[in-house]
Amino acid sequence: MHEPHSALGVDEIDLSNMDFWRRPYAEREGVFRTLRAERPISHYNEPVFEGSSIEMPAGKGYYALTRYADIAEASRRPEVFLSGPGAVSLLDLPTEMVEYFSGMISTDNPKHARLRRIVSNAFNPRTVRAVEDSIERVADEIITQAREHGTGDFIVDIAAPFPLEIICSMMGVPPSEYPTVLKCSNIILSNGDPEFIPEGTDPILAFLEAGATLTGIMEELGKHRIDQPIDDITSALVNAEIESEKLTQQELASFFVLLVTAGNETTRTAIAHALHVFGEYPDQQRRLVEDYEGLAKTSTDEIVRWASPVIWMRRTLASDYTLSGFELKAGDKVVLFYNSANRDEDAFVDPYVFDVGRTPNDHYGFGAPGPHFCLGAHLARREITVMWRELLSRAPTIHPTGPPDQLASSFVNGIKHLNYSF
Ligand code: HEM
Repeated sequence: MHEPHSALGVDEIDLSNMDFWRRPYAEREGVFRTLRAERPISHYNEPVFEGSSIEMPAGKGYYALTRYADIAEASRRPEVFLSGPGAVSLLDLPTEMVEYFSGMISTDNPKHARLRRIVSNAFNPRTVRAVEDSIERVADEIITQAREHGTGDFIVDIAAPFPLEIICSMMGVPPSEYPTVLKCSNIILSNGDPEFIPEGTDPILAFLEAGATLTGIMEELGKHRIDQPIDDITSALVNAEIESEKLTQQELASFFVLLVTAGNETTRTAIAHALHVFGEYPDQQRRLVEDYEGLAKTSTDEIVRWASPVIWMRRTLASDYTLSGFELKAGDKVVLFYNSANRDEDAFVDPYVFDVGRTPNDHYGFGAPGPHFCLGAHLARREITVMWRELLSRAPTIHPTGPPDQLASSFVNGIKHLNYSF
């Protein structure tokens, strides 16, 4: 993709219009390029949730931050740019729903610091190294099975089951529950995409039910692990020596919902976009085949920058604040468009070029530096590295055989289906 251009003038752009998010990637890139250049902080009304009879409270809209530098500044000031009030979603969620669905990602200090301290050991580089064998084993099993057919849907066969099996096995979820967990995570992040919502069901009700199902699985498991701890993360989280360093049943359940949603769709999306972009840049695929070990680190980060699986996160202003000369007021919502930061011409040389050796590459795919920086970044990087190392060593000519079927979502840059051949 080279220097995309927007067909829309800056006044015609509406980031809350779902039709925009169904447009091809290059058109979307063009719009963000125009915004960064002409109106880097712009206001939109909140989106209307299509197809639901349940009314969500209408708010006063949000400001979209599209430049790397502005997103960096907002992330460095978490005491002004809060994650708690109303959640990190565009629409304000009722408090009980925030607790239930998003846990620590939608909290601020002091609560956030306590939760993050408790769970951070479970995902630090040492722990991730300890599960390296299991990451390799799961990758091997999935690829072996897929190769029996030689062709198929890359998302269904490879990208979706891989992170799901890893996170579920780290948490100790029994394999019999994997299909249910996958179904629920698809519903929660589907943004109402009819492919994932059971026919005749209200999308918001489907979303709530999926959350309740995941919570139920984890509550059951948590109770079990208090009595019979084993070597898994769940046992560690519910059996800490110090009372304040344990998660309550409810915190454990919300953490699981967060892990399943934050850890699955995102990693799947990154792995899937890699196949799509290799189709567009076969020379970069060849470079990797020739020297995977030399390029493993830089290519993994370039895949995350390119894919920008999480398009945005929201913050709410605790007090009035002037950002790049723009006056924001207490209570205003701002949305940090990480996808746009990742193509900012002021932060990256040739941002529209996919380069597996890109250095430096301080992308915001995992969020910008700050307290909410992705907890699972080490794990996600390992998963992407191992999966593509295995794929390219066993099937160096793997390629897409059609265009990606995009998820209709402004939030996750998802791919629903992508046909491929070994
Ligand atoms: C390529 C894969 C991934 C991407 C692109 C990604 C992206 C992100 C982003 C952008 C944030 C920042 C949220 C904010 O700004 O408020 C975040 C937070 C988070 N991610 Fe990831 N993530 C990925 C994989 C994972 C995995 C594998 C896990 C779980 C093991 C995970 C767990 C979390 C959690 C728990 C948070 C919340 C951290 C906090 O609020 O302190 N993520 N992720």
